Amino acid sequence: MPTTTQARPASAGPWNPDSWRDCPIRQVPAYPDPAKLADMEARLGKYPPLVFAGEARRLKAHLALASEGKAFVLQGGDCAESFSDFTANIIRDTFRVLLQMAVVLTFGASLPVVKIGRMAGQFAKPRSSDTETVDGITLPSYRGDIVNGPEFSAASRIPDPARMEFGYFQSASTLNLLRAFSSGGYADLHEVHRWNLGFVERSPLAERYKDLASRIDETLSFMAACGMTSATQRDMRETDFYISHEALLLPYEQALARVDSTTGDWYGCSAHFLWVGDRTRQADGAHIEFLRGLQNPLGVKIGPSQDPDDLLKLLDILNPRNEAGRITLISRMGADKVRDKLPPLVRAVERSGHTVVWLADPMHGNTISTSSKVKTRNFDSILHEVRGFFDVHAAEGTWAGGVHVEMTGQDVTECIGGAHRLSEADLGERYETFCDPRLNAEQSLELAFLVAEELKRRRSPAIVPALAAQ
Ligand code: PEP
Ligand code: CO
Repeated sequence: MPTTTQARPASAGPWNPDSWRDCPIRQVPAYPDPAKLADMEARLGKYPPLVFAGEARRLKAHLALASEGKAFVLQGGDCAESFSDFTANIIRDTFRVLLQMAVVLTFGASLPVVKIGRMAGQFAKPRSSDTETVDGITLPSYRGDIVNGPEFSAASRIPDPARMEFGYFQSASTLNLLRAFSSGGYADLHEVHRWNLGFVERSPLAERYKDLASRIDETLSFMAACGMTSATQRDMRETDFYISHEALLLPYEQALARVDSTTGDWYGCSAHFLWVGDRTRQADGAHIEFLRGLQNPLGVKIGPSQDPDDLLKLLDILNPRNEAGRITLISRMGADKVRDKLPPLVRAVERSGHTVVWLADPMHGNTISTSSKVKTRNFDSILHEVRGFFDVHAAEGTWAGGVHVEMTGQDVTECIGGAHRLSEADLGERYETFCDPRLNAEQSLELAFLVAEELKRRRSPAIVPALAAQ
């Protein structure tokens, strides 16, 4: 099956949940049995939604605050979740590092942090090539566990619609645990010391984190003396945690789209926040056509090839009413390009009057291959891109609204650098990702401390009064 088909452009006619099927589409798996695919879509179409429209609206309202400089967004998780690495501990550890990062950012920068996991559905992956060749054998590329298997064998690489149902149930079960952690006591601020992971305790960052946790304790004691405790304050006892993934596999996404009974609008109910990737964001393409009809908050990944005029076209299509919180632009330029490529886009968006949240994805423009062909990322390049992103927004007078990272709560060795100075030679020790290299727990926490410092340093005088007036 070709990667691109010729058809009518997106947004040329009325939207309906399958209007994307008439548009040119990229990154589409070649399912050998269309009838089996159609059966699975019908089956999933009858299953309960994973999230509710009201939750997606609540997230949109939080993101609207981030678009005004009144909140900061932390979005993180695996590049690709997998069916085989599916345990309560892995989910808990990722959640707990995200909580730690959020606390560092909230306390360090005195800003509310909107927490969004790349979790409970981040399965489908775009690939740079439709095929992979090993030792002279060419097979279809691995496209994520919801499509085919990672093993290099002909059988495992055949796209199988049955995997969608497995993905749905794994998402439901992951989300169930995340909901329990967020509201069942685990995320209570009084637990801030307990969130420290064993191996992070042995790290140079442990003291900093413990010091911050002690300061939070002091603040909590003061608040308790004033009558504010977890028993009386929901915000101290629970946290809002949202899920997100790339809306790449459209048959699955369409099967989980539902009409909200309150508003009569369509929502993608596979996650609160859906994003379109850098490879499938064409204004006339199927992915944009599908997403424009959903009322969820949406992300658009923008890489160095993004043209400013095309970006404005995308914003007009996806957010014709210029609703705040609707669109988050996730810039992934690369450390050496962000200072050149981002400013024209920021200026174009500012001039157009479109309200957006700007996020930095400092991962995807900084992937390199080692001499032994292992994919990795250098912690210094990641930092460099984050700083460039903050500098650009400071210069343009816009708000650097958050970060989007690929990370895990495990002690993996996939990105080089960081407090433990991981080197190329260390990568073999625990290299476990199914797709792109992730920050480990310690590197994630280190990044959060550095971002908190940037935030403290950069908070513009124009924004401080706005915050004070909250
Ligand atoms: C990703 O987020 O894993 C990804 C593939 O990103 P991008 O679309 O920015 O390349
Ligand atoms: Co990735």
